[in-house]
Amino acid sequence: MKALVLIGGFGTRLRPVTYAVPKQLIPLAGKPMLYHVLDLLPAGIEEVVLATGYKADEIGRYVTEHPPRVPVRMVPEAEPLGTGGGMRNAGGDMSDPFLLLNSDVIAAFDVAALLTAQTAHGGIGTMTLVEVEDPTPYGVAALDPDDRILRFVEKPSREEAPSRWINAGLGVWRQDVLARIPSQTPVSWEREVVPSLLADGVYAFRAQGFWEDAGTPERLLRAQKYLFESGRGGRRALPAGTTGKGPAAIDPSAAVEGASFGGSVTVGPHVIVGAGAYLEDCILMDRVTVDAGASVVHSILGPRARVHGGHRVAHQILGEGAEA
Ligand code: GDD
Ligand code: MG
Repeated sequence: MKALVLIGGFGTRLRPVTYAVPKQLIPLAGKPMLYHVLDLLPAGIEEVVLATGYKADEIGRYVTEHPPRVPVRMVPEAEPLGTGGGMRNAGGDMSDPFLLLNSDVIAAFDVAALLTAQTAHGGIGTMTLVEVEDPTPYGVAALDPDDRILRFVEKPSREEAPSRWINAGLGVWRQDVLARIPSQTPVSWEREVVPSLLADGVYAFRAQGFWEDAGTPERLLRAQKYLFESGRGGRRALPAGTTGKGPAAIDPSAAVEGASFGGSVTVGPHVIVGAGAYLEDCILMDRVTVDAGASVVHSILGPRARVHGGHRVAHQILGEGAEA
């Protein structure tokens, strides 16, 4: 079986960090988002095709330098084609069926059970659904008693939302869905294609357990916390010469002596943290500097950002080279 990962979005809700770094390469618990998504794949996946667009070269370079445990092939699009257009563009050689994933799904899902569900009902596809409090930022499904999807509405208003069960961004589809997407033109899979497939039998796989779309700062930090707590993060213990508590994933090239930690922290390569600085629930990307006595909490700092001595950064997202 092959998997198709949609990875071509602009990451607008994570700007300004995503002006410099594509969303999928932001490190959570010491590892880029994309690699946590690839961890969801069951054993025996033959190939993962990445449908790239925005910052495809950066993603290509990173993946070449850090080969994932599954074989990966990139198919970039010259112009943004949307989720459906990206699938059509990259899906030329998919298996039947194939797995489809968004690149920002952080979850504890049983993908083998999803595949079994698809085989059991034999429809055109199966979408993993999760139940959320507020379905309006997602694709929302109306279900019949057999869990067949009757209606699918992308980002509805509160009044329009047919339920609280939403598309988790992970599904399995028969290969022939790809031929039903117009080629080389922007198409939304969720708005234009999925509704047209419902007559052919699209079923829900209701998933339990943790799920987050790490596409906004708040959700991304929540996802990082989960990854640490569930043991899927990188190095967890604090290095000698620091105080406070982990978990934290600290790159060996970072200088953090004298810093204090409050849990759920990623510190990237060549970061410098001064004595008495405090870090909690945050991500410091390459070459960030946090001067002595400063603090960073509930925040994401892009490459080379700097927090000056004594300053406090809380609930912020700083772009590449920004100063606070
Ligand atoms: N190749 C390509 N081309 N990929 C794209 C494009 C494009 O033009 N636009 C977006 N993507 C990728 C993104 O990189 C991301 O991995 C995925 O498609 C979904 O885009 P998001 O921007 O993250 O969408 P969303 O979070 O608003 O909504 C989607 O995910 C929700 C669950 O997380 C939808 O699939 C919803 O139905 C779903 O509920
Ligand atoms: Mg998303």
